[in-house]
Amino acid sequence: SKGYFTYDPGFMATASCDSKITYIDGGAGVLLHRGYPIDQLAEHSDYLETCYLLLNGELPSKEQKDEFVDTITHHTMVHENISRFFRGFRSDAHPMSIMCGAVGALASFYHDSLDITDEQHRKVSAHRLIAKMPTLAAMCYKHHIGQPFMYPRNDLSYSENFLHMMFGTPCDEPKVNPVLARAMDKIFLLHADHEQNASTSTVRLAGSSGANPFACIAAGIATLWGPAHGGANEAVLTMLEEIGSVDRIDEFVARAKDKNDPFRLMGFGHRVYKNFDPRAKVMKESCDEVLAELGLENDPLLAIAKRLEEIALEDEYFIEKKLYPNVDFYSGIIMKAIGIPTDMFTVIFATGRTVGWIAHWHEMISNPYKIGRPRQLYTGYASRDYQPLDKR
Ligand code: SDX
Repeated sequence: SKGYFTYDPGFMATASCDSKITYIDGGAGVLLHRGYPIDQLAEHSDYLETCYLLLNGELPSKEQKDEFVDTITHHTMVHENISRFFRGFRSDAHPMSIMCGAVGALASFYHDSLDITDEQHRKVSAHRLIAKMPTLAAMCYKHHIGQPFMYPRNDLSYSENFLHMMFGTPCDEPKVNPVLARAMDKIFLLHADHEQNASTSTVRLAGSSGANPFACIAAGIATLWGPAHGGANEAVLTMLEEIGSVDRIDEFVARAKDKNDPFRLMGFGHRVYKNFDPRAKVMKESCDEVLAELGLENDPLLAIAKRLEEIALEDEYFIEKKLYPNVDFYSGIIMKAIGIPTDMFTVIFATGRTVGWIAHWHEMISNPYKIGRPRQLYTGYASRDYQPLDKR
């Protein structure tokens, strides 16, 4: 057995669960990307530099970083036919449904020319996906609000560009707020990778069949959408708005502890972290900074979130069950403060996580692998004879 669970060595050899990318110690609340602690990367690095690290295994030199940023910047535009693809969706379609379709559709633009056995082709597809996700994400929002799609600009950073494509219009010059852009970059960075969670395992399994990387990432997006996984940040805001005021917190905490009540505190708990999620700590600091910048320190949802966290950390049920705030608990408050609608939160998560999915896909496909074939424990009927209709 390895790590936190045992698995059939045959399965391990097929989907190659070994990895050098990210290490998590759930008990100690440790998260390392290629050996670098997440809090140090969040403080000193930026999202594209962390992308380079996850993909290549080492921090880039200045020249390597400049070349990588330039490559990503010059691949941020999407094929013009993609915009026509968007017009086929209802304006009220959930943006994650559009992202599943749009990212999968990217395969139709590159599939025939892509040879995933060629390292250069694998690198190009990785760069295209990282570069185009913010453009597609912003297009989901513009489609929803009926505004024209914004083209990316090559004179803006990755996160400045995303906010420009989200909130800019052709009628005015780009307005860049460095504090908000830094917060956005930190959100992308904190979501970049998280070992072999549900969506990353889906990408690896899909990739083990030799499927096109765009299709594999679309499968990861579909998995992330669930409220138990990436959909939690949207569910956190919905929960805080349902709680509505600090004096109703006890009622909802009681519900979360009631086994007969399906209600769970969204943004709390984790399959691996049985101590604090190190990303949540960084996210909370960033949340305070953004709300102060926007003069929203007294945001009522933040007051509920902070009080809920205090109560949960003192409550013996949550202590016994080792339920601490996870990465999704504060990210939604920051995104709401920036002006991002709740149904776009998981799209932002998917945008940040694309590099992690791609890094794991690339790691698996660059080494000898077989198609993944998880085995089951059969609990159905033993063999039995067919019964004709008149005998049933
Ligand atoms: C992400 O895997 C990853 O790395 C994921 C992720 C990533 O970066 O990819 O980190 C991102 O998905 C974070 C998690 C976001 N989800 C939520 O915030 C949704 C709310 N959380 C729960 O649904 C839950 O905590 C899970 C799904 C995250 C974990 O579910 P588990 O594996 O059932 O949790 P557990 O085994 O740790 O639960 C222990 C106990 C259980 O009770 P018992 O069966 O032991 O009696 O705690 C209970 C659970 O019922 N419990 C909760 C709870 N989470 C777990 N009770 C109330 N509220 C909660 N939030």
